[in-house]
Amino acid sequence: MDFKKHILCIGAGYVGGPTMAVIAYKCPHYKVTVVDINPARIAEWNSQELPVYEPGLDDIVREIRGRNLFFSTDIEKGIREHDIIFVSVNTPTKQFGVGAGQAADLQYWEKTARQILQFSGSDKIIVEKSTLPVKTAQAMQRILATGGDGVEFEVVSNPEFLAEGTAIDDLLYPDRVLVGSGNSERGLMARNELVEIYANWVPAERIITTNIWSSELSKLVANAFLAQRVSSINSISALCERTDADIDEVAVAVGMDSRIGNRFLEASVGFGGSCFKKDILNLVYLCRFYGLHEVADYWENVVKINQYQQERFVLNILNSMFNTLSGKKICLFGFAFKANTGDTRESPAIFIARRLLEEKAEVVVTDPKALVNAKKDLENVNGSLSYTGDPYEAARGCHAIAIMTEWDLYKGLDYKGIFQSMSKPAFIFDGRNILDHEKLFEIGFNVFPIGKPPLTHY
Ligand code: UDX
Ligand code: UDX
Repeated sequence: MDFKKHILCIGAGYVGGPTMAVIAYKCPHYKVTVVDINPARIAEWNSQELPVYEPGLDDIVREIRGRNLFFSTDIEKGIREHDIIFVSVNTPTKQFGVGAGQAADLQYWEKTARQILQFSGSDKIIVEKSTLPVKTAQAMQRILATGGDGVEFEVVSNPEFLAEGTAIDDLLYPDRVLVGSGNSERGLMARNELVEIYANWVPAERIITTNIWSSELSKLVANAFLAQRVSSINSISALCERTDADIDEVAVAVGMDSRIGNRFLEASVGFGGSCFKKDILNLVYLCRFYGLHEVADYWENVVKINQYQQERFVLNILNSMFNTLSGKKICLFGFAFKANTGDTRESPAIFIARRLLEEKAEVVVTDPKALVNAKKDLENVNGSLSYTGDPYEAARGCHAIAIMTEWDLYKGLDYKGIFQSMSKPAFIFDGRNILDHEKLFEIGFNVFPIGKPPLTHY
């Protein structure tokens, strides 16, 4: 079949895989190929068991894989044969040298740029899909300009705003699609190519175009604002616990102001996920680079409050359980950084499990989707650790349950039965405020929500 466009994506991760699946699904006249350096990843994308769990993803991939959606390890051939190349490789926080712990590690990005330069053979549009520091597109453009064989590259920025667990819906019905480009004739042409792809299913007024740096910066800022809301409500949850205020009531009252809005105001054990912390630290690094230290400090505190919230949760467990956790069995309900995903990157559960083990508690981890990742995250941690998919088994004989992830499953359990199977006094620390606290108290639990006074029998 003759395809109208040939689209390649380098990086078959949480972002690249679902995004390309939806583009291919909505544009049957385009050929879409996803490549990755990791052959195991590609094998999974070609199997019945996809490497990424997202509601709706399986159905889409099953329908179009082999028709106009392909997964391959042949990066060289991919680069040669496609005209539009999305780059969605990972950009973790740098762990070494200048900017360690804050700046983005761009080694994969640069390596990818060099591969593109080496194998292209014809003009290409390069699409920045990974979240990157502002001005990375410019660096990419400079590397690509060193070819000297007459092949031309145009780099555009098209940040991804999908959230895990709702990726397919976010891609099908995006709030906005952002395309940043240069304003030369070639830049505008590349921009239009991108706009044309999304126009297959996204209403025109939701596709916005900007200069390339605004686009790069908007992605960092959107994540920083979202994370800031979570840290804001979490900081107030600490105050509520010391007073008689209830964080859920405060959130409703504040969120009903239409200027503030009611979303992203759920107090929690802290935010996780691959993007929030990384993007804020990136923003902080950028501000420091330009000498804007007050601005950098402002955003850095969003991350500090998040760390504080997690440590506070552990100290609350320790203090409430008579200042010793040694030999006590504590079960973590959930390990994913949020519900409906198996992803555990930066999950508060990792930090909390480690801290509880430091206090010599015995930790039991249960999660419906994230146990494989949980085991990897805690691989080198010393202490008594066990895993089970069954929450009833997990809680048996435990002194405390700590809710880490807001899985629906945990709302409907038989807590009477669970209470009977636990050591007494039995504690519940609801790090997501998803349970019926009054009812648990009546059953006999000592209940410690986030941002509300505890309900205790002593
Ligand atoms: C990543 C970044 O973390 C995020 O900041 C960005 O916005 C999009 O890309 P994600 O898709 O969640 O997000 O990352 P991950 O699941 O780790 O996928 C990246 C993939 O790129 C991996 O499968 C990795 O094998 C692949 N990769 C990495 C390459 O194909 N080539 C490389 O040189 C490096
Ligand atoms: C986020 C952004 O939402 C998305 O636009 C961007 O592309 C990638 O980063 P994601 O990390 O998948 O997406 O998850 P998100 O739903 O934003 O939640 C992030 C973290 O904040 C989770 O740990 C979640 O539990 C926590 N959170 C969110 C709260 O604690 N309270 C809230 O009210 C909302």
